[in-house]
Amino acid sequence: MDKALELENLSKTYKIGFRKAGRRAVVDVSLSIPAGKVFGLLGPNGAGKTTTIKMALGFLKPDSGQVRIFGEPNGPKARARIGFLPEQPYFYPHLTAGAALDFYGKLFGLKRAERIERTKLLLDTVGLSDAVKLPLSKFSKGMLQRFGIAQALVNNPDLLIVDEPASGLDPIGQVEMRRLLAALNAEGKSILLSSHYLSEVENICHEVAIMNKGTVIARGDIGKLLDAGDVYTVKAKSLPKTWRPVKSVVKKGHINGIANLIVGKDDLDRLIDGIRSAGGHIEDVRKVTKTLEELFIELVGANANGGSHDAN
Ligand SMILES: Nc1ncnc2c1ncn2[C@@H]1O[C@H](COP(=O)(O)OP(=O)(O)O)[C@@H](O)[C@H]1O
Ligand SMILES: [Mg+2]
Repeated sequence: MDKALELENLSKTYKIGFRKAGRRAVVDVSLSIPAGKVFGLLGPNGAGKTTTIKMALGFLKPDSGQVRIFGEPNGPKARARIGFLPEQPYFYPHLTAGAALDFYGKLFGLKRAERIERTKLLLDTVGLSDAVKLPLSKFSKGMLQRFGIAQALVNNPDLLIVDEPASGLDPIGQVEMRRLLAALNAEGKSILLSSHYLSEVENICHEVAIMNKGTVIARGDIGKLLDAGDVYTVKAKSLPKTWRPVKSVVKKGHINGIANLIVGKDDLDRLIDGIRSAGGHIEDVRKVTKTLEELFIELVGANANGGSHDAN
């Protein structure tokens, strides 16, 4: 499959302070973002998501590693295929939405007729046609964020990179943003979005990578990631007092003579066979799928806001 973005062994240490002590923000990160998909870069604050994105965009030079954009080395030509909405965008507040998009169009060297057409199309795409004459200072946070997407689309990019698009949005704004990104993806745009909001990612991303403390700690298809974490609860009765379940049973208890057992997917059959051969009866078997949030908390653990390592 074609790749929109390939990050190979990227590392970045920020030099801080007079003595130039280093802060390892990104350590040996490799990611492959397939063309035509929505890829979610997840992780708590300080995980290294923004630093990774800045290196992908060429805003920050990696200490080591490579970036390829649609198979090309990271240069001006390849980067022209990317649109970007930063984490904390700044827009001139006194400009109207129409004038601001016209301004960005000029930056990309679009002719007047093209700019007029583009501005209309983009405001329509992000649902802001009615706000064409409204100054950005009057925009709600949700409208500003959608305007930001329009701005990122001025050069009609093939890859859209959005850093924390749902940050600070109310639930309706978040849903609107999700729908907008999903619609853009349906039109064929590849999307890389970073987030520490799991619900956002769970619903629209085809693939995710989870970062913590500068490294990727899990990656893959969301369904498969969650599947690997599946457990089953088994209820059984009439088991002899002396019966002991297979070792892999993670939890057990008794309520009113019914044994309640929790087991990993791989040992489900063995547990059921064991119960039957001991003379027990299976009352209920249920699959418990974790939410991405549960998986995330399990992986990131108590250090969720631990930031990065300091390397001296
Ligand atoms: N310009 C900078 N100078 C020094 N340290 C930085 C700078 N930017 C980010 N960091 C540090 O690098 C780590 C990763 O930050 P960042 O990439 O912004 O993470 P995220 O986007 O996942 O919240 C954090 O510990 C942060 O404090
Ligand atoms: Mg960030």
